[in-house]
Amino acid sequence: MSGGRHPVFVDVDTGVDDAMALVYLFGSPDADLVGIASTAGNVGVDDVCRNNLALLELCGVTGVPVSRGSETPLVAPLRTAEDTHGPQGLGYARLPAPTAALTDHDAAEAWVRAARAHPGELIGIATGPLTNLALALRAEPALPRLLGRLVIMGGAFDYRGNTTPVAEWNVSVDPESAAEVFAAWHRSGADHLPIVLGLNLTENVAMTPQLLSRLADAAGSTSTPMSALDPRGTESAASNPVIRVLEDAMRFYFEFHFDQGEGYLAHLHDPVAAAVALDTALVQCRPAPVDVELTGTLTRGMTIADWSHRWGREPNALIGVDVDPDAFFDRFIARVGAFAQQLAGVSRR
Ligand code: RIB
Ligand code: CA
Repeated sequence: MSGGRHPVFVDVDTGVDDAMALVYLFGSPDADLVGIASTAGNVGVDDVCRNNLALLELCGVTGVPVSRGSETPLVAPLRTAEDTHGPQGLGYARLPAPTAALTDHDAAEAWVRAARAHPGELIGIATGPLTNLALALRAEPALPRLLGRLVIMGGAFDYRGNTTPVAEWNVSVDPESAAEVFAAWHRSGADHLPIVLGLNLTENVAMTPQLLSRLADAAGSTSTPMSALDPRGTESAASNPVIRVLEDAMRFYFEFHFDQGEGYLAHLHDPVAAAVALDTALVQCRPAPVDVELTGTLTRGMTIADWSHRWGREPNALIGVDVDPDAFFDRFIARVGAFAQQLAGVSRR
């Protein structure tokens, strides 16, 4: 796909890092965001819808339809992660209740309509459970050919899980959907494979208080020095409204990782997926046949890459295997910082 501005459709379970990915897309001149699908995952689907609408209004972004997805995964009961992302999904951040309405069609239909409207061009990004993408593929089996590119944040390849010892959250919440999505690229005739960014890749990219302070600087904002020693829930006093929300959201995420023994940091799984969707050169990928364990007592939700071709199947995914965190943060901070500063500048008039 050549340079310029691309139509982008993003499917999120907004959550803290999904929110960071959305703001990155809002601030990316090469992204023409044509729709947002709300998927149940980090929090329930109605909280995800509200977070998506509220972030659009916070950031002054209009004309981007938000659709409501399935309330539950394809087969499994819904599990959510308020301990990780906060009671409503945006950590300690509290946004004004949105005023805009959702679309009158659901998220699966929104995937199909966006792909049909931009045949061969649409860049799809999925950063939550794959429930609505799987439902969209059931409704439109030609979706792999209609999409110009698909980037999925999900799975863990030859790497431990973050939800079970072997399963990553997005796949663990809805393994059946992930299996259907990966299978859809077998014999699809698509001229591209989905780029799949698992924890093995995204856990190389960790936001820290120092990097968050660099982001505030890039936005021309004051920032709130953050550390594990702060009283829990200390509110951001950043002068820029977008930076304030991101700091309040990230503080909850930092505290969660700290309590998990991973340090006062937060892996930016979803912003990496958004950045790669707009510039695939940010990661190194390797093709492999991929499938998902559905029946294992201990391994349900595990993603397996058949690097040695034991299964005799053609590759159905490009698995992210290497990323330069510095290159990502340079891009992320430049775009989000400039966007937040421009927004504050506009609101000062
Ligand atoms: O495992 C990380 C993924 O699960 C991220 O997308 C995060 O937002 C959660 O959905
Ligand atoms: Ca997510």
